[in-house]
Amino acid sequence: MGVSTRLPRRQFDCLVLGAGGAGLRAALQLADGDAHVAVVSKVFPTRSHTVAAQGGVNAALGNVLPDSWHWHMYDTVKGGDYLGDQDAIEYLCRAASRLVIELEHYGVPFSRIDDGRIYQRKFGGQSQNFGGEQAARTCAAADRTGHAILHALYQQNIRAKTHFFDEFFAIDLLRDAAGNTLGALVLEIETGELLVIESKTTLIATGGAGRMYRTSTNALINTGDGLAIALRAGLPLQDMEFIQFHPTGLAGLGVLITEGARGEGGYLVNGRGERFMEHYAPHARDLASRDVVSRAIHMEVSEGRGCGPRGDYVELKLDHLGDDMIRKRLPGIRDTVLRFAHVDPARSPIPVYPTAHYIMGGIPTNRFGQVVAPERHGPEEPQPGLYAVGECACVSVHGANRLGGNSLLDIIVFGRAAGNHILAALKEQRYHRPLPGEAVERALERVWRWERPGGESVEALGAELRQVMERYCGVFRTQDVLDEGVRRVREIRERLAHAGLRDQSRVFNTARIEALELENLVEVALATVVSAAARHESRGAHSRVDYPERDDRHWLKHTLYLRAGEVIDYKPVRMKPLTVDSFPPVARVY
Ligand code: SIN
Repeated sequence: MGVSTRLPRRQFDCLVLGAGGAGLRAALQLADGDAHVAVVSKVFPTRSHTVAAQGGVNAALGNVLPDSWHWHMYDTVKGGDYLGDQDAIEYLCRAASRLVIELEHYGVPFSRIDDGRIYQRKFGGQSQNFGGEQAARTCAAADRTGHAILHALYQQNIRAKTHFFDEFFAIDLLRDAAGNTLGALVLEIETGELLVIESKTTLIATGGAGRMYRTSTNALINTGDGLAIALRAGLPLQDMEFIQFHPTGLAGLGVLITEGARGEGGYLVNGRGERFMEHYAPHARDLASRDVVSRAIHMEVSEGRGCGPRGDYVELKLDHLGDDMIRKRLPGIRDTVLRFAHVDPARSPIPVYPTAHYIMGGIPTNRFGQVVAPERHGPEEPQPGLYAVGECACVSVHGANRLGGNSLLDIIVFGRAAGNHILAALKEQRYHRPLPGEAVERALERVWRWERPGGESVEALGAELRQVMERYCGVFRTQDVLDEGVRRVREIRERLAHAGLRDQSRVFNTARIEALELENLVEVALATVVSAAARHESRGAHSRVDYPERDDRHWLKHTLYLRAGEVIDYKPVRMKPLTVDSFPPVARVY
C-alpha cells in the first residue's frame, strides 16, 4: 500500500490556491453560488500581497473628470504596447464600473469627493478621448486600497462560509494521465502534516514572483508558487519576459511609493533639480506609463544626473502638496517614508529608483479564467478542471506593460468570471473523478527530497539568484547579458538540485518551505530570462538595447515557455475585441 493512501483527504467542489484578491473574489462567487469551496493560503488570508496595493483600482466612473470604458480600453491596449488580447481588455474595461460599485457594497471604504461619490485620482497612462487630456480613473481608499479590498473580500467569504486552510503550502497539482486536474497535495506549515485535497475544479491564484529580484515591492511570500506548479504540470507560461519595474521604489530598499503620489501632483527631479520627464514624455510627463518612467530614471542615473552622494537615485517631490493634503490622500506613504527613509515628505524629497513590481506574463488563460494550453503547434485547448486568475495568470489584458490601477481591476473582474464559469462547469460534473495513487506519489517526491541533509545553503543560493536576475534581466537588456543570465540561473538550478537542509535535527518547517519556495522561484526565473533572451525587439517593459525598435512584423505575438527542454513557442495576439473596432498598433508616445 503506497504512502498516498494513508494520507488524510478532504473533498471540495473547488480548490482555490491563494487568498489574495483574485482567489477571494473567485471563492466568494463560488460560495455564494452554493459550491463547496476551499481556499488554501500559505499566510493568513489578510496578509496576502493584495494588501500592499496602494493607489487604487481603475474604473471609468467619471466622478472627477469625464470618462468612458472605451477610453480606458484604448489606454490599456496602448499601455500594453499592443500585445494585450483586445477581447479580454474590452471585457475588463466594460465590467469595471459595475464591479467597483459592487466592492463598495461589499464594504470597501473608498475615499469620497464632496458630493459623496467615490474619489478617483490620476494615474499613469490614463487619457480622455483616446489619447487626449489626462483622465482621473483610479478609485482610491486613500493609499491603502488593496488593504481595504482584501479585508472586505475576506469578511464576505467568512459570511459566505468559504472553508479556509490558513498557513498551508501547496506542493503540486494532482492530475491524471488524461490531463484532468483533480486537486492538490498541500502541507500544513506549522505541523508538517500532508493533506490530499481532492477537488472537481482547481483555481490557481497565487500571485506574482517579484522575490526573484533583489529589490522588489513584493512581499516575501511572492515566490511564484503557482507559476512553478503549472510548469511542473507540463503547462506553458506566457509572456514571461515582461517584468514591470515600478518607477518609484524607495531607493536601495524597493519599498513601494505609490504612483498615486505623482497622481496627486508629485513630480520627479534629477540631481540638477530638473523635471526630467519633460524630455522623455512631453505630454504626460510624470504620468507616462511605468515602463517609460522607469527607463527615464535609469537613463538619468546612468548618464550621471542622479541625486545623492553616489548619484544613484532621483527624487520624488511632494513637499509643495502640503502636510494636510499628504496626510489626507497619502497617509501610508507618509508613514513609510518617515519610517524607512527618515524623511518627512511634506518637507523633503523622497529618494526613489525603479524596482521589480509585477509580472505581466503567467499561466495562459481565456477570459473565463480557464487555463488554455496548446498541444505543441496545435490548437489551444482549455485544460479540464483547471483555472488561473490574477498576477499568476496571463489572460492577457496587460500586454507588455500593465497600467497602474489595472491589477486590482484584473483580480476582481476575472476572479468573478472564473467563479461563474466554475459554477456552470460544476453543474456538468457532479462526481469526483478517481485520483490515481501515482499522482500523489509524484507530488510527494517534492517533499521527501528535502529530507536530505548537507549541501549548499538554500538561503545563499536564493540571494545569488536575486543578484543574477537584477544584473542580467533588468530594465535594459542585451543578448550577451541575457544569455549569461540564462547560464547562471541554470547553474543555480543545478546547484539547488544538489542542496539539502543542513542540520536536519534542527530543521523547522519554515526552512523546508523556504527551500520549496526557492525551487519555485528558480523555475520562474529561468522562464523569465529564457523568454527575454528569445524576444528580439523592444516592446513595453522589455527593452533591448540591441533591438531598440518594436517590430510588429515579426514579434506581435505571445511567447510560450515550456519547462521540458526550455523551449519557446508562440501564439497570436487576439486583436479583435468583442463588440468594438480593434486598436491597431501605432507608434506609442506619451
Ligand atoms: C501603485 O499604487 O503605484 C501600485 C498599484 C499598482 O501597481 O497598480
